[in-house]
Amino acid sequence: MPSSKLARQVILRLTEETGAGPIIDLGCGWGNLVIPLALKFPHRQIVGYELSIMPWLTAVILKKVLRLKNLQLYRQDFLKSDWSGAEVIVCYLYPGGMDSIKNKIESEESDIRFVVSNNFALTSHQPDKTIRLNDFYNSPVYLYQLKSTR
Ligand SMILES: C[S@@+](CC[C@H](N)C(=O)[O-])C[C@H]1O[C@@H](n2cnc3c(N)ncnc32)[C@H](O)[C@@H]1O
Repeated sequence: MPSSKLARQVILRLTEETGAGPIIDLGCGWGNLVIPLALKFPHRQIVGYELSIMPWLTAVILKKVLRLKNLQLYRQDFLKSDWSGAEVIVCYLYPGGMDSIKNKIESEESDIRFVVSNNFALTSHQPDKTIRLNDFYNSPVYLYQLKSTR
């Protein structure tokens, strides 16, 4: 299920507060978030990981049609992928998914400075911002700053 339009708008706004470094979308699905990110930040490197073939293929076609040179899309398990260099994570996962990325984020090799998560909290950290969407559930979007600017 893709992020809603409201969630996408908030995520795009929050990513403006994350500097100029590479962004990765963990589980980019059909590209509903990763494509707008690549359009909004043409000078930032944007990476999407997706396991399911049809959503991944759709996102790849959109990337080609829109000639998004700053976007790389990998059909990979993000837990087995190399995130080195990436500074920002955006995601819309599930509670277990948030727990599974925790160790990778906290490892010494990690360059991740920010996490923007739709709906699911990173329970090991306190969010720096929580934006409540104007939807039926008042769904949260969280911004975490893990490391200060170098
Ligand atoms: C809820 S969708 C979010 C899609 C998109 N990020 C958005 O916000 O619109 C989550 C996606 O994560 C993918 N996913 C879940 N676990 C994954 C993993 N370990 N590696 C790669 N993709 C994964 C699912 O296939 C699904 O397409």
